[in-house]
Order: sequence, then C-alpha cells, then structure tokens
Amino acid sequence: MVVPVLKWAGGKREILDDLLARFPANFYRYHEPFFGGGAVFFELSPKDGAINDTNTRLMNFYRQVRDNPKELIEVVKGFKHPRSDPDPDRDYSDAKNYYYQQRELFNRRPRGEDFDPLVEAGLLLYLNRTCFNGLFRLNSSGEFNVPIGSYKNPDWVREQEVLEASKALQDTRIFNRDFSFVVDVVESGDIVYFDPPYEPVSATANFTDYSADGFDFDDQVRLIDVLQELDEMDVFVVVSNSGVMRDRYEDAGFYVDLKGVSRSINCDASGRGEVDEVIATNVSPGERRGRRQKKLSDI
Ligand SMILES: C[S@@+](CC[C@H](N)C(=O)[O-])C[C@H]1O[C@@H](n2cnc3c(N)ncnc32)[C@H](O)[C@@H]1O
Repeated sequence: MVVPVLKWAGGKREILDDLLARFPANFYRYHEPFFGGGAVFFELSPKDGAINDTNTRLMNFYRQVRDNPKELIEVVKGFKHPRSDPDPDRDYSDAKNYYYQQRELFNRRPRGEDFDPLVEAGLLLYLNRTCFNGLFRLNSSGEFNVPIGSYKNPDWVREQEVLEASKALQDTRIFNRDFSFVVDVVESGDIVYFDPPYEPVSATANFTDYSADGFDFDDQVRLIDVLQELDEMDVFVVVSNSGVMRDRYEDAGFYVDLKGVSRSINCDASGRGEVDEVIATNVSPGERRGRRQKKLSDI
C-alpha cells in the first residue's frame, strides 16, 4: 500500500475496504478516470492501466511524480514555511505573506516558453499541504483561491511518499480528458473504478467545485451510459456516489449498496456528518474478492 501524496476532497480512504470488497477476485488492468488523490489506485498499486482527471494541473503533477520524482523533491525542498521569510528580492506587491505569494505564482504561472511543469507540480504540492483543509478549489476565472491552513509543521516535501508514488505510477498511462475516454482504452477483463463528483443531496449540500466547469446531472447520466457500455464490453465497473444516485444505478441494472459515511470536507457546514454513499457495480457477489485480500498480490 502506498500513501497518497495529496489531500483531496472526496478522498476514498473511509470506504476503501467496502470498495475493495466489491472488486472481482481477478482482473486484468486497473483504470481510474476521476483520479483526484487516487486513494484506491495507491492502495492497490496496480501494475498496468490508466488514470485520468479533467484537472490539468493535477495530471501534470502526477506526470512529474512518475517521470521526475527526484527533481520534484528538489523543487519542493526549496519552499519555505508558509508563514516565514518572503523572498526580499521578488516583487510581490499585493501578496500578504509567503503562502499567498506562492499561490500568486501558481495562478500567474507563465504559460509560454518559460512554463516549467516541474515548478508548477512543486507549487501544487506545496499549496495542497499548506492550504486550508487540502482543498483544491478554483474560482470562476480558474484561479486557485484556497486560503492558508493553520498548521504548525506542515509536511510539504513528502519525499518518501513521492518516491513510492512514482514507483506505483511507472507503468500507468496518465490522461487529462473527460472520463468517457476510458471506453477507448479498456479491454475485456479490465476494471474501471469511477469516483465522480458526488451528485448533491440538496442544491447546496455537496462540494463539487473541483474544477471551474463542474459536473452536473447530465454528466451523471452520461456516466451511467458509459457504465453500461463498459458492462457490454465485459469490463468490470465499480462506481461510488452519493446515495441519491442509488435508484438510477439500480434501474440501470447494477448491484447497489448504501453506506453511511462521514464526510470531512464539505463546503456547507450543515452538510457535514453522516451522508449515505452508494457503491454500484456489475461484479456479482460470487465473483468478488475476499474481504481478507488486502493487496493485489493476495489474489
Ligand atoms: C470525488 S473526486 C475523486 C476523489 C478520488 N477518488 C480520491 O480518492 O481522492 C472527483 C474528481 O473528478 C474530477 N472530474 C470532474 N469532472 C470530470 C470529468 N468530466 N471527467 C474526469 N474527471 C472529472 C475532479 O477534478 C475530481 O478530481
């Protein structure tokens, strides 16, 4: 098991065992089209497959982790504690302190010839580990706008975690597309785990601001079409979502189970606490792996 490098809203660590218990005992390759922090991928450390997210800067980050882990660690080691010592030689006239200066750099990164994907990845890791709650939230102009978190000793270097994640990602293809791309890369016997932004329980209850363009009910319906298409291709699918999607998945012919879980990140304080979460799959109970199988090598 590899520890995820980033904190990510909707991280799946709480329901990991419930999810994995619905995976088939045997499968070929593993794909995860709504990757975020990749808690399930890193738990499994699969040998082969594809990961994807529409968040371009996030997928640049994982490419750097996979391809340039040592260089990335060097970049990140260069950052300072978020509340100390702004660089006196730089002109950050409107920045309040070091954290906000790095946030500013992240948002104003040069996109032309000078664009350095390694520095952008370093900034993302630094901000993720020092911002409020590890949220990744963009405003309508696509700028990262999360305030500083209150950590005494934030750990933004994550050397060990970056090196282990890099190993886990070595044979993984990394995409930055809409989730539906996955129908073009799967083969029969593969598994795809989908963890979309959750359909809100009420209009304001859930956190869905992962990207500037959001994910609406039409996207949820599109996702069901993709699940059915994959099912017809003999691909295993597992999807997690908020409990409000339960009937839709059942009507589409999937096995469904409801779980009560507590969500730790929610933009609306009244939405905190236990919410129902649904896990739907085409893996029949007889095909599932045993609860005691923790790692792929146990299969
Ligand atoms: C619930 S989070 C995934 C959390 C992840 N499973 C974890 O453990 O951290 C949903 C992710 O879907 C991404 N996303 C939103 N719309 C998408 C789309 N149309 N296609 C692919 N990814 C999308 C978001 O950027 C976000 O990272």
